[in-house]
Amino acid sequence: MFEVKKTAGDSSWFVHDRFGLFIHWGLYSLGARHEWLKSREKMTDERYDKYFRRFDPDLYDPELWAEYASGAGMKYFVITTKHHEGFCLWDSKLTDYKAPNTPAGRDLLRPIVEAFRGRGMKVGFYYSLIDWHHPHYTVDPKHPLRLDPKFIEESGKRDFYKYREYLLGQTKELLTQFGKVDLMFYDFSFPGENGLPGKGKDDWGSERLVGLIRELQPHILLNDRLQVGGDITTPEQYMPKEWVKADGQRVVWETCHTFSGSWGYHRDEETWKSAETLIKMLIDTVGKGGNLLLNVGPTGRGEFDERSLERLKGIGEWMKRHGRSIYGCTQAPESYIRPQDCRLTYNPATNRMYVHVFSWPFKNIHLHGFAGKVEYAQLLNDCSEIRMREGAAESTMAEGAFREGRDAETLTLSLPVKKPDVAVPVIELFLK
Ligand code: GLC
Repeated sequence: MFEVKKTAGDSSWFVHDRFGLFIHWGLYSLGARHEWLKSREKMTDERYDKYFRRFDPDLYDPELWAEYASGAGMKYFVITTKHHEGFCLWDSKLTDYKAPNTPAGRDLLRPIVEAFRGRGMKVGFYYSLIDWHHPHYTVDPKHPLRLDPKFIEESGKRDFYKYREYLLGQTKELLTQFGKVDLMFYDFSFPGENGLPGKGKDDWGSERLVGLIRELQPHILLNDRLQVGGDITTPEQYMPKEWVKADGQRVVWETCHTFSGSWGYHRDEETWKSAETLIKMLIDTVGKGGNLLLNVGPTGRGEFDERSLERLKGIGEWMKRHGRSIYGCTQAPESYIRPQDCRLTYNPATNRMYVHVFSWPFKNIHLHGFAGKVEYAQLLNDCSEIRMREGAAESTMAEGAFREGRDAETLTLSLPVKKPDVAVPVIELFLK
């Protein structure tokens, strides 16, 4: 099939499972207007502290979260153990800025790891390299106080080395206290701007960090934002137009997306994608050999809000009947031409091809290059047979004429006029 760049960690489960849940949850959930609010509104620690003093997710039920995620067909999750604000969900011994010291009064990470793992889901940790709270994190173009001359001056006296040790120490905690962790997602490196320096691999001590990670959990899948390569490439908030490559080579990749325009819970944001759009994004991604990581931002009370639940349910309805065209699937071999308004996925283990029909056509779909290759065809939602014809239409037209877009290589599927009642109908082709 396709030649893909080898990963140091174990990607076998990842390229099979294809679909995961991203969770952004922290103090910014109370601000409810984007996880970057501290930076956007140039807040001092004192002003931001109101959220720390009031973080009390009394309705937090990780069992329920795991149920929602697995109901939607997701097979792994990645949670923000610490986001840019610096707040930690677990009981880190290296800081006081953590959930146990808020009104929540407890480690919030462990129960979620246990709940998701209990459902057979793989465990992923997001860890922000950026930290807007640590006393030795220096000023840069992303920092909330980047325009404050007093802070810039004070920042000159900070010892970034101490922060580097801190992030190494926290990584050690995360990789030694929570059992097997399948994926680490570090976020992120960036260039300088407006006279302020950026931060990258030398600042984070990326080489040393990766050494530690590989030593503690050699199987772990590492993302690519430490500026020293990594196992998985993570395009964010866009749909790549083909299989993602690095240095001309196909890589294991995962695109992450929000349901709406914010990662953290955003009360007033209205650009929510429909379940149908999200399903199409998943199909399109798998059809290019990638994974989709879809994000939920739980509320300050610890719940998934109604808008998220509605989407997760819609996706789950579809996945229940169409998971077969997603799990274990990848891009179709290049000899098969993608028909108009469709996406193809292919399962090499079962040798089945899946035609996802994004826009229901009138009666026929012509599959060029498929003639002689298909044994049987059915609609996946109800396993009802789809009848097929091969080759050009027998017609009264002159020899060799091309009719209805059909030629000798064409396989024509005869579809019901009425679109099946599912978000995206799929035709399963049993190849010879
Ligand atoms: C960006 C944002 C961040 C979000 C992340 C998800 O890096 O800074 O808020 O967590 O994307 O990949």
